[in-house]
Amino acid sequence: MKLKSKILAALMAMLLFACINMAPETLDENPGQAGCTPQFPNMKVTYNNYVKNIIARYCITCHQGGNSPGPGNFTTYNGVRLYADFFAVRVIQDRADMPQGNAPLPKSVRDSLNIWINNCSPEN
Ligand code: HEC
Repeated sequence: MKLKSKILAALMAMLLFACINMAPETLDENPGQAGCTPQFPNMKVTYNNYVKNIIARYCITCHQGGNSPGPGNFTTYNGVRLYADFFAVRVIQDRADMPQGNAPLPKSVRDSLNIWINNCSPEN
């Protein structure tokens, strides 16, 4: 009996450890990118070469975490990527309502963001 419960305790500790270990990996994965196929493979719009600057110019004032009015924290790639699924409706379409309180972004910018999203929102 004693040995059994020791083994059981050891097994549970291992299981718990495994779960704790897995959690960050699960968070790191981008649900929007899993199984995503780039639609415009020849067009290299990336977070680092384009999107980062656009976000910094138009969005970060309201989306930087802490007490900022908008949700999320758009100061990092992972922070923006979490919201990529909302961009089509909130940012890219002709009647987009972001940036809040302003007209939609210039059409050329929205087209580029659209390519980025449809290419699975790459970082580089
Ligand atoms: C003046 C402040 C302000 C600016 C500038 C702004 N936002 Fe927002 N944004 C908000 C607020 C507040 C919300 C939450 C209320 C809502 O959904 O309308 C929001 C919501 C969003 C959402 C939806 C999030 C969700 O969980 O559904 C997205 C996506 C978004 N913003 C993207 C952007 C992008 C991209 C830009 C820059 C092009 C931008 N916003 C600029 C204030 C702002």
